[in-house]
Amino acid sequence: MTFEATTSFAEISATEEQYQLATYKKMPVAVERGDGVWIYTSDGEKYLDLYGGHAVAGTGHCHPHVVKALREQSEKLLFYSNLVFSETRARAAEKLVSLAPPQLTKAFFCNSGTEANENAMRIARMFTGREKIITFSGGFHGRTADAISATFLGKYRDIGKPNVPGHIEAEFGNIESVRALADGTVAAVMLEPIQSMAGVRMAEAAYYRELRTLCDEREIVLIYDEVQTGVGRTGDWFFAGSSAGDGVVPDIVTLAKALGSGVPVGACLVTDAIADKIKENDLGTTFGGGMLAMAAVTATLEAIENDKMLANVKNAELHLRERLNEVEQVVAVHGRGLLLGLEFPNKAVPIHQGLLERKIITGTSSDARVLRLLPPLCLKTPEIDLFVATLESVLAQAN
Ligand SMILES: Cc1ncc(COP(=O)(O)O)c(C=O)c1O
Repeated sequence: MTFEATTSFAEISATEEQYQLATYKKMPVAVERGDGVWIYTSDGEKYLDLYGGHAVAGTGHCHPHVVKALREQSEKLLFYSNLVFSETRARAAEKLVSLAPPQLTKAFFCNSGTEANENAMRIARMFTGREKIITFSGGFHGRTADAISATFLGKYRDIGKPNVPGHIEAEFGNIESVRALADGTVAAVMLEPIQSMAGVRMAEAAYYRELRTLCDEREIVLIYDEVQTGVGRTGDWFFAGSSAGDGVVPDIVTLAKALGSGVPVGACLVTDAIADKIKENDLGTTFGGGMLAMAAVTATLEAIENDKMLANVKNAELHLRERLNEVEQVVAVHGRGLLLGLEFPNKAVPIHQGLLERKIITGTSSDARVLRLLPPLCLKTPEIDLFVATLESVLAQAN
């Protein structure tokens, strides 16, 4: 079947449902085109995207600088593997490392968040010669075998049965629960510094320092899963090194989501000490570091820099918090930058639904009362005002 511009939602959704496994509960929207914070559907409707295509559209949909770079790269070379050198890859690695905290000096490229986490855990085991990994209740790290075994959140771990052995669960925000588990058999402590799926949960800055100190004392590798918090989302390039985490820099940072503006790409950033221990053939993947993905990485980072999006994230957060202060039913706003969880007294699903009916896309979370916002980093005041006004009308109608 070929789709004309006029193909209706009914035809598209029926065809997808016929030929694609039904593994996601989909919104009744068939996307056709995107521009910044807006998504346009096959039925000619326009939606404000405060979900950012699952936190991927950091630079906004189809940022012209990224599109141009991809167009130019696609005319030169789509792909070659890590068996050859490439200027496109060299530039991407240099740019990414140059923006990271100075302790993180080398990148390993892969294709997704779960793959970045699998590799981070493997690196930690190789580095320490130990096997166990401590992760946290509420954390989400992906769906491949090791990453899902590290995910102590709802049903996910059970989906991955039989789980990889050696994964142990600590309580997020409670240093004593980590201390009790962190013996000489533990290779790594891995955490989402802001737990997104759990309802955008963040710890006190001092907690991250305590984790760093504990890992140093016991020679354990500290891994930040920055698949969501990385690449500008919190208003800093990374949570690693930011004031929200008391300047703590882990030994490994994992990235994906917004790193390629929609082109699949993941990465692990590591310290010199770790890089020195990794040898040929220890890690690998055919597609990691391919030219199209690398062009996307460089252009994504440049777009964020050129458009001063980090400053915009901070301003947008301030304005959102100010405006949401006026909305009585919003009992708390969790998170940082443009990774925010709006807490309501009751279930957030009807609010998500009401917003969707009024053409605003948001996200839910595993905390039933929390609505998640993960918009493009270029979100501006008029769109925030539109969101708050629409939210108020949804809430008014619900009462
Ligand atoms: C914090 C975190 N880590 C890892 C992943 C897995 O990433 P991917 O879906 O690219 O494998 C996700 C995905 O939602 C995530 O939010």
